[in-house]
Amino acid sequence: MKDKIAQSFENLFGKKPILAFAPGRINLIGEHTDYQDGLVFPAAVAQGIWVAIQKNDLTTSRIFSEDFREEFVFDINSFSPKKGHWANYTMGMVSQFQQAGYKLEGFDLVFGGNIPASGLSSSAALSVAVGTALSALFGLEISKKSIVLYAQKSEHLFAGVKCGIMDPYASAFGKENHALILDCRTNQHKEVAVNFGPHSLLLVNSKVKHNLADSAYNKRRESCEESVKILQSVYPDATTLRDIPAKDLEKVKDILPAALFPKAKHVITEIERVNLASKALHEGDLTAFGDLLKDSHKSLSKDFEVSCAELDFLAVQSWKSAEVLGSRMMGGGFGGCTINLISNENLESFQTEMRTAYQEKFGIEADFISVALSEGARILG
Ligand code: GLA
Repeated sequence: MKDKIAQSFENLFGKKPILAFAPGRINLIGEHTDYQDGLVFPAAVAQGIWVAIQKNDLTTSRIFSEDFREEFVFDINSFSPKKGHWANYTMGMVSQFQQAGYKLEGFDLVFGGNIPASGLSSSAALSVAVGTALSALFGLEISKKSIVLYAQKSEHLFAGVKCGIMDPYASAFGKENHALILDCRTNQHKEVAVNFGPHSLLLVNSKVKHNLADSAYNKRRESCEESVKILQSVYPDATTLRDIPAKDLEKVKDILPAALFPKAKHVITEIERVNLASKALHEGDLTAFGDLLKDSHKSLSKDFEVSCAELDFLAVQSWKSAEVLGSRMMGGGFGGCTINLISNENLESFQTEMRTAYQEKFGIEADFISVALSEGARILG
């Protein structure tokens, strides 16, 4: 893929580019907690987005999507978001750099990737890859942390999704054979060596992506913010649901309206589950870890209501197999993938059975994606 993107750039623009790469991410556990200052447990994967870039001595930028085989040109001193367009992720990053005071000149850019499913955060990978490429091209030496914050802001302003920090953070800071316990309050992480022994992580791609995903995501975030406002009458120092201890759930139930409580409960208990999952991994208790994945799914589906029939089916079907330690929907929800922890011996039979069951139920052929925990964003030599 790297050579393909470099070659495509040379064919289009007749010069040698600088190349950057940023990976997609998985998340072991800790879903819909990042925008409430919570804990998450993501990791970068080997698949990602490659960006080839070079200056062009113009004030316009020409960007080319290898996947769509389509070019987009914009004036770097005058541009605005274009609803639903892939160019937003580049323009959004340019805008963030400019707002931070960096003077950019025109550039040419080609990008493409091999992220095989939705829910692995290709948008964050693209934003982080563009940020990494721009920083190198103009010799700006911008820190990874700043690139992550720009990527998050860019997604808010140019794609209209009020996402948390998890996806660009994992894409930037991923480490081989490690997952990251990220505290989204301090934006600090701890690298945790991950070794599942005779078990492997396997993603099942539902191949559905429901349209309401982005607006529903923003709504979930708003409902958490609304809960916090109400809870402040009793917890005056609380700024997010992170400040509400899990042991106080009963009290919280009495304070919040019935429509809000389950959403708040999900976030509060999910943060607790990240702590427990980290402990279980540390102690090598994969059964306990797997059970937490299951609890996470139930909470995301029943309380937070971000699952869908297809994801529920895939998760519940997995729970029935003795060889699966845990399974849950992963990422924002309403489609995308489930993440499963499966014994290596049964990887083949699991796929055969799941393929048949899912096909029979929904008429869709599921994809299976193995993941290797990998390094974060970088400039390629
Ligand atoms: C999306 C968002 C993240 C996070 C997850 C859910 O991937 O981009 O910030 O909120 O959903 O955990």
